[in-house]
Amino acid sequence: MSIKVIRCENYAEMSRAAASIVAKVMIEKKNAVLGLATGSTPVGMYGELAEMNRIGVLDFSDVTTVNLDEYYPISPDNDQSYRYFMNENLFDHVNIDKSRTYVPDGTAADPDDACRRYEEILDSVGQVDIQVLGIGQNGHIGFNEPAESLEVLTHVTGLTASTIKANARFFASEADVPTKALTMGMGTILRAKKIIIMANGAAKRDAVAVMLKGGLTTSCPASLLNLHPDVTLICDPAALGE
Ligand code: GLP
Repeated sequence: MSIKVIRCENYAEMSRAAASIVAKVMIEKKNAVLGLATGSTPVGMYGELAEMNRIGVLDFSDVTTVNLDEYYPISPDNDQSYRYFMNENLFDHVNIDKSRTYVPDGTAADPDDACRRYEEILDSVGQVDIQVLGIGQNGHIGFNEPAESLEVLTHVTGLTASTIKANARFFASEADVPTKALTMGMGTILRAKKIIIMANGAAKRDAVAVMLKGGLTTSCPASLLNLHPDVTLICDPAALGE
């Protein structure tokens, strides 16, 4: 039950490998529930999925999506929000019903309440058939940051200094990076039927190594994926430390 590794030569190959696993789930189940991630890593995979939709081999019309996380506070039309990212990278390019695409609400007046409502949405859409994950340099998944203890359900979290620094490249300046986020918890993520986690580049090497060691430590939240029976890491040689 250890994490399966698909070692790809490069990013383009990783994107195709991840897209073909997601596509297989969608072809087997027309109304699949997809758990989706943001960040730079899955961008190529979304491009592949959009292309498969364009040429008619993949149908999104009955698909539901739930995203892992969202900055807080942030408006959906801020080009750094994860809602905006998903529209730009996938939803605007495929035949999906946007009313069935869910991202935690970065505009909610009461963020704790938004998290409770998100868990209700997750319960109502049913089990996630496949969850796509990236991994932070510090081993975070979603925005579950390394800490003494981790949260089970969707919750409000402060971002660590290292995550703010890593994500500053997308914002005008480091000071513009929101300091909080709403994120699925570890239990929420581990409820998915199947999980793929993508990692490329040497910056992810240490986090990937801890995860693949097979133990559990809250200082690398991705290591908790070792509790799940069906996890596949899709990575390039640099992420494996080669
Ligand atoms: C972000 C997101 C994660 C993502 C990770 C890695 O902060 N919250 O869901 O997997 O960091 O991002 P990237 O793929 O850009 O390296």
